[in-house]
Amino acid sequence: MKILVTGAAGYIGSHTCRLLIESGHQVVGYDNLSRGHHMAFERAAAGSLFVEGDLLDTSLLGQIMRDEAIQAVFHFAAFGLVGESVEHPQLYYHNNVEGSVSLLKAMQQAGISRLVVSSTTAIYGEPETMPISEEMHPAPINPYGQSKWDVECLLQEARDRDGLGFAALRYFNAAGAAADGMLGEDHDPETHLIPIVLQVALGQREKIQIFGNDYPTPDGTCVRDYVHVCDLAAAHLKALNLLEPGTGIQINLGSGVGTSVLEIVEHARRVTGHEIPAEFAARRSGDPPLLVANNSQANSILGWTPEYSGLNSILTSAWQWHRRHPQGYKTS
Ligand code: UFG
Repeated sequence: MKILVTGAAGYIGSHTCRLLIESGHQVVGYDNLSRGHHMAFERAAAGSLFVEGDLLDTSLLGQIMRDEAIQAVFHFAAFGLVGESVEHPQLYYHNNVEGSVSLLKAMQQAGISRLVVSSTTAIYGEPETMPISEEMHPAPINPYGQSKWDVECLLQEARDRDGLGFAALRYFNAAGAAADGMLGEDHDPETHLIPIVLQVALGQREKIQIFGNDYPTPDGTCVRDYVHVCDLAAAHLKALNLLEPGTGIQINLGSGVGTSVLEIVEHARRVTGHEIPAEFAARRSGDPPLLVANNSQANSILGWTPEYSGLNSILTSAWQWHRRHPQGYKTS
């Protein structure tokens, strides 16, 4: 199939482009490069068409869809930082919600009815019971989660109104890097736990600050469900094969295992052989104490089982990437 990938130069988008090509699909990359890296797309999909463009440019999107005879769209292009969304909510509604409206409009005009979209566990807010299953009603507690839930609502409307076939994949904490060390996580500024811990191991930062040690969790630090980026990419392929016009699936993608911040730091010390100095700091605003997936629907509906999401595999692959690319994609 020929697939338009928005956010193709981003972290999860680039890993998925690579898997799509390895699986015999064709890819057209679309990214405004405001946060992505052209090099990531080049490495993932060398020789494929890349268009630098904005999601809000509906006519450019439509033109590419028609000229390239696109059959399905994978939509990764979005902002994904909880803290930033609290500070700049309009940025999130503009880019994530209005951007998706623009994409859906272009798809409808071009007659494309297959769409796989990145969603997030942030739509659930602070659920009272764990693990989180898809039946729990979304109750986002920050503009990022709200923007992604708004997008899911738009998809449901487009399904009912225009016969869209969609899969909204609700990621838990994406982590890890490609096994060959050529693709990985590169954000500026970096705010995610695992890259920051590994930057401390590399000597690029003095210490890791652990945000809060008084949460109602076994060791007092926040618990998250880390899922390997290559497992996420594999789930997109499985979702593509299930897309049917007029139907929508909304599925959690997590490993089903919770890991605390302290456990990440301790495991990273073993994997890297570095001391990784750590200190407790105040809680970060907007952080729920515990987020762990019930992934049984991913298994039963998509036939997806995470293969690489063990902590060792996540940290070993991420460490390889960071060691080889201490400046991210700027490292030649
Ligand atoms: N943390 C620290 N110190 C740091 C950075 C993070 O203690 O320097 C803690 C955070 O407080 C949190 C945990 O590590 O408890 C994980 O934080 P990340 O920033 O790595 O990830 P988040 O859980 O905040 O968010 C990520 C994505 C979101 C997504 C969410 C789903 O950025 O897009 O996972 O769980 F919604």
